[in-house]
Amino acid sequence: MQTAEMTRIDKIIKNSTFQALIGKIKEQEKNRRFCRHDIGHCMDVARIAYILNLEEGYGLSREMIYAAALLHDIGRAEIPETGVDHHVVSVEYAKMILTEAGFDRNEETQILEAVFMHNTDGLSKPGLPVLLFRADKLSRACYSCEAYEDCYWKTEDKNKGVSY
Ligand SMILES: [Fe+2]
Ligand SMILES: [Fe+2]
Repeated sequence: MQTAEMTRIDKIIKNSTFQALIGKIKEQEKNRRFCRHDIGHCMDVARIAYILNLEEGYGLSREMIYAAALLHDIGRAEIPETGVDHHVVSVEYAKMILTEAGFDRNEETQILEAVFMHNTDGLSKPGLPVLLFRADKLSRACYSCEAYEDCYWKTEDKNKGVSY
């Protein structure tokens, strides 16, 4: 069943630029030992962020949360060519995709801020940035990862057990 509330999320999923970037990342990461940044990761982040939103009473809409989660890592597609930090490139592509999906200027500003902060200082900003930052980290199953010892995450940051 489809609810009207998520129609713009489906537009993001079907967006040709989004599909091209996600496809490129999938190809780049097909032999990756560490965590991947595929659609599964995006959906994990979206759902965890939405759970946090409900549990902690942030009152954000599903569309705002899912849009930020789907778009936060798309800039990774260009790391091999440009070396530019992916959160910066993600913002550029996300802006275009959000407009095409029908998000207004105010919504875009909030989503882009969260995407921009997701790898840096997202914890310092309540609302969507902190939800995206936390869900991104919580989404990783470090506790059953074969590459645990070699992962660049600090030991104290790795998820030692299931939270969500
Ligand atoms: Fe990221
Ligand atoms: Fe991520």
